[in-house]
Amino acid sequence: MAFSLFNKAKSPVIQRIHSDDATRLRLKYDTYYHIFDKQEGTRVWKDGKEFIMLSSNDYLGLAHHPKIKEAGSEAIKKWGSSTTGARLANGGRSFHRELEEELAAFVGKEACHVFSAGYLACASSVTGFADRKDILFADKNLHSSLWSGIKLSGARCERFSHNHPGHLKELLEYEDEKTPKIFIFEGVYSMEGHIAKLPEFMKLADEYNAFVVLDDAHGFGVLGEQGRGTADHFNLTNEVDVICASFSKSLAGSGGFVAASQDAINYMRSHSKQAIFSAALSPSACASAQAALRIMQDEPEHQKRLVKNLERYRKILSDLKLDIWDSETPAIPIVLGEKEKVYYFWKALQEKGIYTIISIAPGVPPGKDLIRTAISASHTDEDLDRIEEAMHYACSKI
Ligand SMILES: Cc1ncc(COP(=O)(O)O)c(C=O)c1O
Repeated sequence: MAFSLFNKAKSPVIQRIHSDDATRLRLKYDTYYHIFDKQEGTRVWKDGKEFIMLSSNDYLGLAHHPKIKEAGSEAIKKWGSSTTGARLANGGRSFHRELEEELAAFVGKEACHVFSAGYLACASSVTGFADRKDILFADKNLHSSLWSGIKLSGARCERFSHNHPGHLKELLEYEDEKTPKIFIFEGVYSMEGHIAKLPEFMKLADEYNAFVVLDDAHGFGVLGEQGRGTADHFNLTNEVDVICASFSKSLAGSGGFVAASQDAINYMRSHSKQAIFSAALSPSACASAQAALRIMQDEPEHQKRLVKNLERYRKILSDLKLDIWDSETPAIPIVLGEKEKVYYFWKALQEKGIYTIISIAPGVPPGKDLIRTAISASHTDEDLDRIEEAMHYACSKI
């Protein structure tokens, strides 16, 4: 080993790294960051063992669609691997504009901006509009990307109880009516699978003159006509000011978008650090998302199959009297309430070749420790038979 004059071990940060309990426990129980050697349809392989993936968000089952693969590789051939810079610096490309126009038309907004990650898009849906002097009202169970946006905005934020318009109203009554207000919701909550009570929330937005941001990462592709999302599902697209979403769920890609009026997108492009300082969506990611968006419109069979699979999966879980936290969508938690139970349930599923993900407090509210699962249109009847058998086995282990 090279000799060094510096004693790095003295650094409190290095000491913290070496004594972190969260990391120690994660490594001990080996619950996250697994590496698979191969994936095909709903199957993944690790150390030669085959698993049915039950925690991906490939709701429409498009991740292996030949048209998407083709579009991604053709785009690399034509445009290269990257535009290697932020759009403000070295420009966007016609493929960005094309996808933005198609997405805006699809969700029913005038304009759109695409980002290289859903996380950036959703953070930007807050940072791109919020001013320090505003007050933000956020559902307690929002995704981390929105909390990042909220923190970065520097604005005061009040949290209301999850999906609870009555609590939001109470909070609103304390505030000065002149202070600009922004409401932040998810269309479908990623962990719980709950659909936002948008009609009630939008009445409050109207009453209090609030600007509304909706993260529809899990509603896009699933709800509404052809998968236009939660706002479309409730016929409230015009009332919601900003719709953001990720490409990594129903579109089976990577990247994300923010859609709004043309003026709002112009404004966001001047104010969002995520738009200004982060490199543009790559040619292949853009072309793949565009192909997936067209498939969503041309091939309704994927949405139909998702509904059918969801029905069967919900029945499997309800026959076993498993608590799914009133999920109404393909994002389905299995709430077991104690982290030990969650761990043994998860291990039993693994033993039977079903791959899921654990989420325990503080990531979820106390008493809601859960296994997070998601059903896909690409799960076959045979997959569902195996899932059913594994669920029975896991229940017998707790
Ligand atoms: C609600 C929500 N918003 C945003 C994101 C971020 O999207 P991505 O993972 O594509 O960056 C996610 C992803 O998990 C999400 O669930």
